[in-house]
Amino acid sequence: MHNIARSYTRPPKTGWLSTVAADIPSARMKFARTDEQFMRAALAEAKQGWGRTSPNPVVGAILVCRGRIVARGHHARAGGPHAEIASLHDLGGPVASDATLYVTLEPCSTTGRTPPCTKAIIDAGVRTVVIGALDVNPRHSGRGISELQNAGIVVRTGVLASESLRLNEAFNKWILTRRPLVVAKCGMSLDGRLNRSADEQRWITDAPARRDVHRLRAQVDAILIGAETVRKDNPRLTVRGIRGAKQPWRVVITRSGVLPNKARLFSDGWAHRTLLYRRKSLAAVLKDLGRREIVSVLLEGGGRLLGAALDSGLVDKVQIYLGPILTGGGVAAFAGRGAISTQAAEHLEEVTYTQVGQSIRITGYVRRPSRKRGNKLRNFLPR
Ligand SMILES: NC(=O)c1ccc[n+]([C@@H]2O[C@H](COP(=O)([O-])OP(=O)(O)OC[C@H]3O[C@@H](n4cnc5c(N)ncnc54)[C@H](OP(=O)(O)O)[C@@H]3O)[C@@H](O)[C@H]2O)c1
Repeated sequence: MHNIARSYTRPPKTGWLSTVAADIPSARMKFARTDEQFMRAALAEAKQGWGRTSPNPVVGAILVCRGRIVARGHHARAGGPHAEIASLHDLGGPVASDATLYVTLEPCSTTGRTPPCTKAIIDAGVRTVVIGALDVNPRHSGRGISELQNAGIVVRTGVLASESLRLNEAFNKWILTRRPLVVAKCGMSLDGRLNRSADEQRWITDAPARRDVHRLRAQVDAILIGAETVRKDNPRLTVRGIRGAKQPWRVVITRSGVLPNKARLFSDGWAHRTLLYRRKSLAAVLKDLGRREIVSVLLEGGGRLLGAALDSGLVDKVQIYLGPILTGGGVAAFAGRGAISTQAAEHLEEVTYTQVGQSIRITGYVRRPSRKRGNKLRNFLPR
């Protein structure tokens, strides 16, 4: 008897994945423990591509022979080799007949910017493939698996499926809805304020929290702010201190169109990465960003923009930095109309609390039990 996956944790019940995860039949989730260990290594490999592959997903692959990892690969940028191909290159020689390929996402079976991975896997002589998540794209889902099986390859699916799906939470939402994943972020005082007073430049949170924000920026395709934040703060919205990071688009939303020409966003070296939307609803802006293949958007304030996003039910995830300060007055963090009742408020799940310097970072996913759109993802977990 092989070891079953005792370390398998019941998947979260919220956000984009919640809707998928609620009813996984645990009796069917029995994998050799080693499958999970190697899939975890493939997930770690995939994360090396974080923030660099959009609009493609991040994917990792591991080749294992007699219990040992003999090659690794990840998708490093859109248009570059896929993870499976990168791992075969890393091996640099023939694949042993008892080798197993672990890949976090179902291999592609169609020619896109690169040839199909299924063909490369078959041609390389791989006999066993273990897959984390299915491709959520309805046009491709399951096809890669069928092609491998038709070629006589043994395929095991659903190993660390929810982790593998979560890895590409933004990409998955975009594929299914053509809208980006929306992450609301701010640094706020204990009394929920974003600033001290109109002209004061002091930060609410400390330097470690602000460094953490740069790591977050490095993982998104766009940062969106309200016009008042441009007028008051004149921010750069660049990624600083992270080697090799891609600069996200910088997006400003305004009704009045009154903005200083000299603002950094319109005049610095990244001015070509700034988009300005006049008299467009936030929903329309997000739709247009999705059309531009922007799969994730960080809302960085100010309070009215965050409030509008909350009121319109557009926030998928929050990442809030709570600084140890009470300011009173100032701008409320989500200064919108507000929920009409506690029940109607956006409840968060999968909440994490992490101390970063003297601040607390709180992350969570907005629960949307009644919405049908997330249910599409249910199809991509193992049965
Ligand atoms: N602590 C933090 O993390 C943080 C982050 C960002 C900002 N802030 C602070 O927040 C303050 C600015 O916040 P704020 O609430 O006054 O303004 P804001 O949210 O930055 O900007 C509001 C402006 O955005 C434009 N807009 C367009 N469509 C909108 C919509 N659907 N909903 C809301 N706004 C829309 C309008 O610009 P027009 O007026 O041009 O029509 C509106 O006046 C600043 O003091 C800044 O320092 C703090």
